[in-house]
Amino acid sequence: MSLLTAEQIGKKFGGVVALNDVSLTVEKGEIVGMIGPNGSGKTTFINNLSGLYAPTAGRFVFNGEDITGYPAHEITAKGISRTFQNLRIFPNISVLENILIGLHCRIPVSLWDVYARIMKTRKIEKQAGEKAMAVLEIAGLAGRHQTLAKNLPYGKQRLLEICRAIVSDPHLLLLDEPCAGMNPVEMDDLADFIRVLQEKGITVFVIEHNMRFIMSVAQRLIVLENGSKFREGTPDQIQKDKEVQAIYLGEEGDI
Ligand SMILES: Nc1ncnc2c1ncn2[C@@H]1O[C@H](COP(=O)(O)OP(=O)(O)OP(=O)(O)O)[C@@H](O)[C@H]1O
Ligand SMILES: [Mg+2]
Repeated sequence: MSLLTAEQIGKKFGGVVALNDVSLTVEKGEIVGMIGPNGSGKTTFINNLSGLYAPTAGRFVFNGEDITGYPAHEITAKGISRTFQNLRIFPNISVLENILIGLHCRIPVSLWDVYARIMKTRKIEKQAGEKAMAVLEIAGLAGRHQTLAKNLPYGKQRLLEICRAIVSDPHLLLLDEPCAGMNPVEMDDLADFIRVLQEKGITVFVIEHNMRFIMSVAQRLIVLENGSKFREGTPDQIQKDKEVQAIYLGEEGDI
């Protein structure tokens, strides 16, 4: 059974067809890339999958369960985390506090828990702190946990956002253009980081325009064009595909 199956996903915004009949699977442990020209529907795909919108057609099956149209917090609780195309960190709090925010979905909040919560608060905080530090360690940010997020170099801010997404132990991590604004060295660090996440058992679905990056990090690529799945294959197959090259002509992310 695939970790994720998207079946004939469609999304319309009024008269705009942003996605049309997109079917794909993601296997446990894979790094899958999604590419496509601007406006081809990449972000819309993960917005629908992560519960920001509900698709107008089709369904998402995750770990054998139909999760189509679940609200975002339930999707997160099922084990799907994401980052956003535009960086969403809190600039004026510390690196560590930015990570702790990502753990809120794992901390009990029901009334029934209130008493126990008071008793457990210290323990939870300690565990949360340790968990957050462990994640920062993997990203090479542990030494800067007290730094205000805004004072990190841009590439590290991007890593910080990924750290926040993985601290809740997702099975599937969705990254929307994680390289945007990064220099080549930062991109190489990010590629290494993503491979470490894969070794730790996290499946990664990554949208990216930077071809050097996506071709080196993804094991399989899905190409969207105008809201539809245009091609699927290994990076090598996609790179050599003349029709894929043609849809990129004139794009800044030439293949
Ligand atoms: N909330 C929305 N309301 C209306 N139209 C939308 C909305 N979100 C996306 N669209 C439209 O859906 C289409 C796909 O947009 P999307 O952002 O998914 O593309 P993308 O492949 O992520 O592009 P980019 O590479 O520029 O990030 C575009 O025509 C866009 O204008
Ligand atoms: Mg996008």
